[in-house]
Amino acid sequence: MRRALVVHASRHGGTAGIAEKIGAVLRADGVDVTVAPAASMPDPSGFDACVIGAGVYMGSWVKEGVEYLERYAPRLAGRPVWLFSSGPLPGSSKEATDADDPYQNALGPADGPGSGGRKKIEALSALFRPREHHVFRGAYDPKDPPKAISERLVRLMPASKDILPPGDFRDWDAIAGWAHQIAAEIAEPVSVG
Ligand SMILES: Cc1cc2nc3c(=O)[nH]c(=O)nc-3n(C[C@H](O)[C@H](O)[C@H](O)COP(=O)(O)O)c2cc1C
Repeated sequence: MRRALVVHASRHGGTAGIAEKIGAVLRADGVDVTVAPAASMPDPSGFDACVIGAGVYMGSWVKEGVEYLERYAPRLAGRPVWLFSSGPLPGSSKEATDADDPYQNALGPADGPGSGGRKKIEALSALFRPREHHVFRGAYDPKDPPKAISERLVRLMPASKDILPPGDFRDWDAIAGWAHQIAAEIAEPVSVG
């Protein structure tokens, strides 16, 4: 049986929920799955596939996700790896910048001001070359108290209601479809006859 590790860096649970869904779909497709938070630093050795995702805040991955990639990039090299970012909220200021480019919507521009978070993930990705980096829409509940000072400040801004549309925009069909695709890619060849 194939073994997959699904790692998530989540501040408010949205990304963790996506990771759990990916895990459930892989399991249903016959994969032995471990889902774990990046903060617990699960070792990717011995897994046939690693799926690593993080929530995006102000253009940067949640820090435990970055730390996970920094620590394990050498061990991820040569292994099938898929990354996902969970972020854009429809109609947010980020998404308004260029609706056709999911990376820009989530992590900001490739160059210039505001490109630091994206550059960081691109530099780390270059060390192990993920098969894909997918961007999924996220979720935002203003009643859930902020967990970082920067988050608190953004929420206090008068324009925050326009910048951060509240709601759960996670596209479960798209997430399940992506997970099925991963299961198909790591499936053991079926012997005929
Ligand atoms: C203060 C704040 C800043 C955010 N900045 C971004 C951003 O730069 N890019 C993006 O795609 N999403 C951004 N989001 C949306 C979050 O990424 C989204 O809510 C995501 O689902 C959070 O994942 P989590 O619940 O796992 O922490 C932001 C949300 C908040 C509250």
